[in-house]
Amino acid sequence: MDGWAREGLVRRRVRVMVTLLVIASPAASGPTAGAQPEIPTPGPLAEPRPLRQVGAPADLTRAAIPPDNRQTPQKIALGEKLFFDGRLSADGTVACGTCHDPARAFTDGKRVSIGIGGRAGQRNAPTILNALYNKTQFWDGRVTTLEEQAALPIVNPVEMGQPSLNAAVARIAAIREYQDAFQEVFGGRPNGPDLLRAIASYERTQLSFDSPFDHFIAGDASAIDGAAKRGWELFNTRGRCNKCHALTDAERDVTNFTDHDFHVQTEMSALGRFLITKKESDIASFKSPNLRNVLVTAPYFHDGSQETLWDVVDHYNKGDGLQNPYLDEDIQPLALTEDDIDDLVAFLASLTSGDYREQAVKELARQRAVSRTTRPQRDTARAFDPKPPRAPLPHP
Ligand code: HEC
Ligand code: HEC
Repeated sequence: MDGWAREGLVRRRVRVMVTLLVIASPAASGPTAGAQPEIPTPGPLAEPRPLRQVGAPADLTRAAIPPDNRQTPQKIALGEKLFFDGRLSADGTVACGTCHDPARAFTDGKRVSIGIGGRAGQRNAPTILNALYNKTQFWDGRVTTLEEQAALPIVNPVEMGQPSLNAAVARIAAIREYQDAFQEVFGGRPNGPDLLRAIASYERTQLSFDSPFDHFIAGDASAIDGAAKRGWELFNTRGRCNKCHALTDAERDVTNFTDHDFHVQTEMSALGRFLITKKESDIASFKSPNLRNVLVTAPYFHDGSQETLWDVVDHYNKGDGLQNPYLDEDIQPLALTEDDIDDLVAFLASLTSGDYREQAVKELARQRAVSRTTRPQRDTARAFDPKPPRAPLPHP
């Protein structure tokens, strides 16, 4: 764990990316959506992950550790305990791990998350894996650091439901075991900033590489099959995926699979980053997510609206959202054939870390079966149409 200790947080330029609107009300009180999920017991998949993994970027990993929150094994252990402790929530029933379950690659497998009292939120839970590399957190990038992020679910009325961070701290501070742990790690009583530091420190141990794709890039030509290799070509060429799922489109990016930017890419009804920037062009714009482990983090998009990777690729293929004047210019009909689509899915599947190999096999079979009968996004005629003229801006 020593390698964790150094180095400043590199802040990078954050461009703005985005989609179109109908309405997005603040997630104040969602409808009751059935049974509240259990808190998972942290098993081997919850453990801190090794720094040495095929494909892991040592420099980026060191740079992701802020100078005022160095990694220590004790702090990480405290953070892990807190991450799976329902006592941080108002009624003791919801932990971070409820919606970020290690067995599901730190997601919940639901379209939108279910929190305290069975209340449904409005967004799909992203994975914590590799969140340490995010330049912004949340689908709309409303905070930058993992420390700032961790405070928000605790006080979100449809997630953990505490009236304030201090209310959660008071609960923790009454527990002897936590008094001792905070004393050992931070030299004082439990308090808000240190509690957030411990959780963030645990999250920063969840780096996830070592996928078949990483082995392929490292020189093992047989690590991925022909379909995944063709999919990787398409990703960087006719599929145009690298326009947003790569740090730069000047050269192939084998590490990040995101541009850390926000894009409008559909007519989906959501305000997205507009809620943060209040710029009209940010309406329905969302962050390009990192695509690592994407096979095992279904369903997809900020609202969980896409069930399979075939649906996601069908969506891109038809150039969805072309009536939106702010649509990202990289969204256009792609003319991908059925074989091309299968190849892109094979490539996306090859980004699954070795830790989730078994889940990946099952999930790929499940999604393939669904895609054989249900392809709600498929519109082959549109996919092969020429790019239509851009819709006019409302205020020229
Ligand atoms: C009730 C379910 C739920 C709980 C509980 C919950 N989260 Fe989340 N988490 C979500 C959802 C949904 C999002 C996306 C919300 C958005 O973008 O507006 C999210 C986003 C995140 C992100 C941003 C990841 C990214 O790629 O942008 C991080 C990090 C995170 N949660 C960590 C935590 C931590 C730490 C806790 C506990 C303190 C926690 N979550 C509790 C559902 C939950
Ligand atoms: C214009 C930028 C852009 C382009 C081009 C693009 N993406 Fe995306 N991608 C995004 C954004 C933004 C999201 C999140 C959208 C949302 O949540 O509404 C996303 C989401 C996804 C997701 C879902 C991830 C998740 O965790 O929910 C997958 C899979 C994906 N993209 C794959 C691809 C593939 C494959 C291509 C090429 C065929 C592609 N993308 C092209 C910007 C882009």
